[in-house]
Amino acid sequence: MPRYLKEEIIHWLQDDNQEKALFQKADAVRKETLGDEVHLRGLIEFSNICRNNCLYCGIRGGNALVKRYRLSEEELVQTAFNAANLGFKTIVMQSGEDLYYTADKLCRVIEKIKKFDVAVTLSIGERSYEEYKAFREAGADRYLMRIETTDKDLYHRLDPHMSWNHRHECLLMIRDLGYELGSGIMVGLPGQSIESVADDLLYLQSLPVDMAGIGPFIPHPQTPLAKEKGGTLKLALRTMAVMRLLMPDINIPATTAMESLHPQGRLMALQCGANVIMPNVTDTEYRKLYELYPNKICLNETAVQCRTCIGLKIKSIGRTIGTGYGGHIKHVEALKKENEE
Ligand code: 5AD
Ligand code: FES
Repeated sequence: MPRYLKEEIIHWLQDDNQEKALFQKADAVRKETLGDEVHLRGLIEFSNICRNNCLYCGIRGGNALVKRYRLSEEELVQTAFNAANLGFKTIVMQSGEDLYYTADKLCRVIEKIKKFDVAVTLSIGERSYEEYKAFREAGADRYLMRIETTDKDLYHRLDPHMSWNHRHECLLMIRDLGYELGSGIMVGLPGQSIESVADDLLYLQSLPVDMAGIGPFIPHPQTPLAKEKGGTLKLALRTMAVMRLLMPDINIPATTAMESLHPQGRLMALQCGANVIMPNVTDTEYRKLYELYPNKICLNETAVQCRTCIGLKIKSIGRTIGTGYGGHIKHVEALKKENEE
């Protein structure tokens, strides 16, 4: 894995004169290592109920203005089935930290969804080792959980009652259980320094992650951070591009939050390091209730509309849609080897 000094990373993040060179380099590294395929993941936001109270998040437990919803097991499986029929080879099940979904319930759902010949990614937050193990045995392939920031003081200010060390331990458990591990950060958090973003990138490299999602923080009007400034697309793209230099072969999504700041945000990301997009496949009626941040895109679209829109966008920049499951190539190669033996 390429080694970069923290000073070099800070330089890339800060120097306006280097931006063009950074983006070109990240794009070239992506192309050389992974080719032109863009892997799609169908994202199901299956519950906006959350026991946590993160200051930045629109669906924080303390936001009494949110109408809460939760898909039934049947609805969740049906949504995944529809997404698989649209050609998605990965289903991402995301929710707030909602303990109504016990390990038993989730394992039943995972087993059913795995029958649709898809990879399954979970993004449901902190759970026990036993639960992570049970999900894995039920067939879950990947797990997404952002560390959000490696500045522990900042983390503890923004995520009251949560522990950075515990989250870190959860990520290690997930990795050691053989999941493909996705993590990531927000940039532009109040009080976050450029030095700390550089530390975040080195942390993700050291885990090491198989997937890294980087998005701008966007202040939500119904949260305590309503009046904060928020992150810029520029910093989010630069951070993502440096991530690509640090880890040439991992999966890096063009994040929804980037497009929420700019109508071409995801296409710009695909052209400076990203190789994954996670279109929303949640039923339209629920989308506006899963408002992590304001101006979230695709609130009135259907799964079919988003799939079509993304297909056209990807084609418009000369890229192709991935036909396989789109896992981290390191894992794919290890699996191939196992099967040959
Ligand atoms: N702005 C941008 N991203 C946010 N997330 C949560 N709230 C916000 C916000 N206000 C991100 C977090 C979380 C992911 C699901 O969404 O990084 O891990
Ligand atoms: Fe949803 Fe473009 S991805 S409308």
